[in-house]
Amino acid sequence: MPKNDRISVSVIKRLPRYYRFLGELSQQGIERISSRELSDRMKLTASQIRQDLNCFGGFGQQGYGYNVAELRGEIGRILGVDRQFGTIIIGAGNLGRAIAMHINFDTRGCRLTGVFDIDPALEGRKVGELTVLPMTALEEFCRRECPLAAVLCIPKSETQQVADQLTRLGIKAIWNFSHYDLSGYEGMIVENVHLGDSLLTLTYGLNSLIPRSEPHEIERKYLIFRPTEDELAAIEGIKRTDIVQTYLSAPENGPMRRVRKRGTEADGWTYTYTEKTHVSFGDRIEIEREIDVDEYDRLIKESLPDRPPIIKSRYVFTYKDQVFELDIYDFSDEYATLEIELESIDDEVFLPPYIKLIRDVTGDRLYSNSELARTRLLIP
Ligand code: NAI
Repeated sequence: MPKNDRISVSVIKRLPRYYRFLGELSQQGIERISSRELSDRMKLTASQIRQDLNCFGGFGQQGYGYNVAELRGEIGRILGVDRQFGTIIIGAGNLGRAIAMHINFDTRGCRLTGVFDIDPALEGRKVGELTVLPMTALEEFCRRECPLAAVLCIPKSETQQVADQLTRLGIKAIWNFSHYDLSGYEGMIVENVHLGDSLLTLTYGLNSLIPRSEPHEIERKYLIFRPTEDELAAIEGIKRTDIVQTYLSAPENGPMRRVRKRGTEADGWTYTYTEKTHVSFGDRIEIEREIDVDEYDRLIKESLPDRPPIIKSRYVFTYKDQVFELDIYDFSDEYATLEIELESIDDEVFLPPYIKLIRDVTGDRLYSNSELARTRLLIP
């Protein structure tokens, strides 16, 4: 067997993963495997695997591949899984108990021999086969049982002092889960574990993959009584546009897809395609692009059968320097909606006196256009 100190730290960091994969292969009854197959499964390059495994004897044979059991056995010996290092857990709270119950110490070269906690209320409680002992019993226990490893599951503030004590008691390795990076202990092996760091690696991946959404529009939406044509015509500076909005089919959990035709017979039409994807709680990405009439006609064939197009006339007007959009839908003679975009959530809205307000429906999904396409109901 090669000397461990000849193996680089990065190879040693990969060994547990080799060991785990080879264990799974063994369980599936696979006796030998080529470096190519192993590389496919482990998502490492075949040459990386050959290089790594050559570090300790090169078990591979040209044309044969690796003998799974032999290789696993050898990696296991390098890792020391066949040993039984006495291990204790300090801190029998949520994490300490979860680790005691869910980590199989025996198959990883360690044997859990004691669980300790400072809280007298926990003393005597069962954690698996073991009984929680008070910290006052730690010294005596260490003298008698000589554990070599300790798992720290205690608050950050306690970590340094407990680690110092463990050093004095002959502990040689600390698996530290407390949110405090232990370092600087001569001759002590310390593995600081932060599950949150691992999650951040995931977040980083998502953050690179998913573009950020534009800042949210701050809008208010009101349900109002539908004004008559004469009332609308009397509003100073009012402009009308016609809109046909069609919702398109999308894969399950996929983005909301929509096409919109907008304009008037007199001025002509513009066409847009929009996709809205929810990326995180309350946050969405909107992709919108102008399309030509041919693409519009093609996309419209993908419309959702249960959501006929929303056909509405939009009237835009200004009142007290605020721009309002009033939508009149083809399916409602009685009601309409009024929207305003605000700069800040605290902005006060001054509704024009000629608007007959029913109520504020901001954020109510029932009044979203995609929902109205389905229900065709403006409920007062
Ligand atoms: P918890 O409050 O349920 O348990 C902590 C236990 O430590 C308590 O039973 C307490 O009595 C005991 N304790 C406090 N001081 C002690 C001392 N001087 N000696 C012996 N026992 C002592 O907390 P939980 O959820 O089990 O978390 C434990 C620690 O692990 C916390 O610091 C937490 O922030 C951290 N943590 C770390 C994670 C990681 O990925 N590294 C993940 C989850 C929690």
